[in-house]
Amino acid sequence: MQPFNVMIDWNSGTMSEGDRKTRRVSDMQGMYHNQAAARDALDNGDPKIYEYTTIQLPQESDHVLFGTTTVFPGRIGSECFMTKGHYHEQRATGEVYVCFSGHGRLIMETEDGAGKVLEMLPGSVSYVPPYWAHRVCNVGDEPLIFFAAFPGHAGHDYGSIEQSGFSVRVERYGDEVVVVDNL
Ligand SMILES: [Fe+2]
Repeated sequence: MQPFNVMIDWNSGTMSEGDRKTRRVSDMQGMYHNQAAARDALDNGDPKIYEYTTIQLPQESDHVLFGTTTVFPGRIGSECFMTKGHYHEQRATGEVYVCFSGHGRLIMETEDGAGKVLEMLPGSVSYVPPYWAHRVCNVGDEPLIFFAAFPGHAGHDYGSIEQSGFSVRVERYGDEVVVVDNL
């Protein structure tokens, strides 16, 4: 394989290579706490929640996969727009998030019950250690744009977290951002 460059558009988070995918409310059934608000959003245009691009590279441990994500501003009820979130299929793999623009929270937790919420803001570099599930919420009024890099063999396990949900959610009331326990 030859070395290569990829260009990122810092305004939109799009990349010059890789497949761009879109996630809407309809792709996240049951993930938002306020189900009535989620149904309303579905009936009112099924808004885009986030878009992401991952570069096409061999999914092998020798390689480093990378890509960008743009989480749009908005709320379902009081809960901030967020990514689905996942564990890595190979649990013993970490990830690095570099925030370009916007304002967010990175929710992380382990299968042992540990939890952590970090702020994401322009210039923040967040380290997701091995074994931590991760989800990103946009708590601001602008798109939240970040870059991610992770080992090629990590894989994505969305199912485990889909079944159990994260133990906290991020809500916003006016300018106040609140982390709420999911009981
Ligand atoms: Fe990940």
